[in-house]
Amino acid sequence: MIPVCTPSLSGKELAYVKDCLETNWISSQGKYVKAFEEQFAAYCGVTHGVATTSGTTALHLALATLKIGPGDEVILPAFTMMATAFAVLYCGARPVLVDADPETWNMDPSLLAEKITGKTRVILPVHIYGHPCDMDPIRELAEDHHAVVVEDAAEAHGAEYRGKRAGSLGQIGCFSFYANKIITTGEGGMVVTDDPALAARARALKDLAFDPEKRFLHTDLGFNYRMTNIQAAIGLAQLERIGTFVAARRAHAARYHELLQDLRGLRLPVEKPWARNVYWMYGIVTGKESPVPRDRLMGLLADRGVETRAFFIPVHRQPVCRKMGLFSGERYPVAEDLGENGLYLPSGSGLTGEELAQTAGSLHEIWDLGR
Ligand SMILES: Cc1ncc(COP(=O)(O)O)c(C=O)c1O
Repeated sequence: MIPVCTPSLSGKELAYVKDCLETNWISSQGKYVKAFEEQFAAYCGVTHGVATTSGTTALHLALATLKIGPGDEVILPAFTMMATAFAVLYCGARPVLVDADPETWNMDPSLLAEKITGKTRVILPVHIYGHPCDMDPIRELAEDHHAVVVEDAAEAHGAEYRGKRAGSLGQIGCFSFYANKIITTGEGGMVVTDDPALAARARALKDLAFDPEKRFLHTDLGFNYRMTNIQAAIGLAQLERIGTFVAARRAHAARYHELLQDLRGLRLPVEKPWARNVYWMYGIVTGKESPVPRDRLMGLLADRGVETRAFFIPVHRQPVCRKMGLFSGERYPVAEDLGENGLYLPSGSGLTGEELAQTAGSLHEIWDLGR
């Protein structure tokens, strides 16, 4: 089976991990955490990085750092991975949804203004599948309404908006380093920011909010969201090769585009003129003219040895939200269309030319059969 994504760990990962084990620095103290935080933040074009245990905890930490709580509203896209919404719910705040843009699949900024109320504290755009959001209108609206922009850049390491990297486009950026991400630490995440006060508060909260003067005295509700030195060692080795990983994904996307653009009824990812898409996952969306519906297509591809994944199920369609009495009767047609008809193809940076050609060939075969 051609996998959707596998990590590439053939750089200095093993040497750095061995160093952790040989020197006994295996928990969250140790040189790799600091080096990874500093170097990843610098890669994003910001000054502070606070490593966490996952992208989910990075998002929660960012919102907790901003003191988001009951009575506050956080605006996020209807089309995203549920971790984005969970982070808001952990804080007891109200998630407010915006439909997706049909081309980029990101939060549609033209639908944002109508969602802003006096309670809006944070706008939380997500750079879906590696394409950055159109940030200027989002930032303008946030500024006008004294809201903070927190980016969910879990899928967008290295993506750029008007020449600036994801993670530097709002007041806080949040990343995931799960095994399928552009760089990985196995499990892990990071909050990045240019604001020293926010960075200091995030750093304290992720470490149980120990009082710096008197240990075991706690004036805030903290968390243990500490990344281990071993994870950071892997992350640092990955970061050394991030340019290669992004270049590989961009090259795969260009080749997929060439091979798939003629398939009728199939929508492919875009790259807006102001964007540098890192194509974390190469998504495709079936339409009325496609020969088979999405789920059948996934089955036919699996029969041909090609692994795929369905797109996210939109937030308002999740049973957990229904159980919590959220979004009742709300409709987000673009997110719903993506959730029902989207899938992504093998996209890892280690994907070979033959695997890509076999994937595209399988799609052509299915389209030819459906003629
Ligand atoms: C958009 C988005 N946000 C948040 C997360 C959560 O990251 P993690 O799995 O590291 O908790 C993911 C993970 O896949 C994601 O895709």
